[in-house]
Amino acid sequence: MALDAAGLDLLFREARTHNRFTDEPVSDDELRALYEILKNGPTSANCSPARFLFLRTREAKHKLAPALSSGNLEKTMAAPVTAIVAYDPKFYEKLPQLFPHNPDARSWFTSNDSLAATTAFRNGTLQGAYLILAARAVGLDTGAMSGFDNGMVDELFLADRGWRSNFLCNLGHGDPAGLFPRSPRLDFDEACVFL
Ligand SMILES: Cc1cc2nc3c(=O)[nH]c(=O)nc-3n(C[C@H](O)[C@H](O)[C@H](O)COP(=O)(O)O)c2cc1C
Repeated sequence: MALDAAGLDLLFREARTHNRFTDEPVSDDELRALYEILKNGPTSANCSPARFLFLRTREAKHKLAPALSSGNLEKTMAAPVTAIVAYDPKFYEKLPQLFPHNPDARSWFTSNDSLAATTAFRNGTLQGAYLILAARAVGLDTGAMSGFDNGMVDELFLADRGWRSNFLCNLGHGDPAGLFPRSPRLDFDEACVFL
């Protein structure tokens, strides 16, 4: 079975990174539904290190504002929802729950800080990509952003949980009037190698 052309357009070919959103709200139930989809994306040892904070109140947005780069400020304040895509550096504490068939899994990471850090960031980033694609799949638009002060976001929003920020992602219903022209992508021969 394969996705039809309309599905491919929705997820990839016609999907854009949005800078402006309509006033149509995004409900908490929609965000829960979005998580129920994205959580199924694969991660190594099913470690699922990503954590998501959905900022949808004025108060939460204003708390985020000082951490944003100037180019990301206005559009983020105006977006219905801004997700902080974060990860838990101590993700391995949940492996007994997430990878129950191998009781050794936690120790792979408690005995190797570098492996734990790489695994958290790699898989947390993958799950951020699953967020983008799942959002598109349920009819939402996204605007990912790395232009912000990670340390400040960690301090403001994540310190009490010990999580770390990766990137931000605005969510809503995109207004095409805010789009830049689509930039070119690399051709197959520039990006891919057959061996
Ligand atoms: C992880 C990530 C970080 C990004 N950071 C920013 C950002 O800080 N500000 C911004 O305006 N766009 C940002 N972008 C948007 C990219 O520039 C955009 O996705 C890319 O140019 C492709 O655009 P398209 O999806 O509309 O084709 C980011 C995208 C990703 C995936």
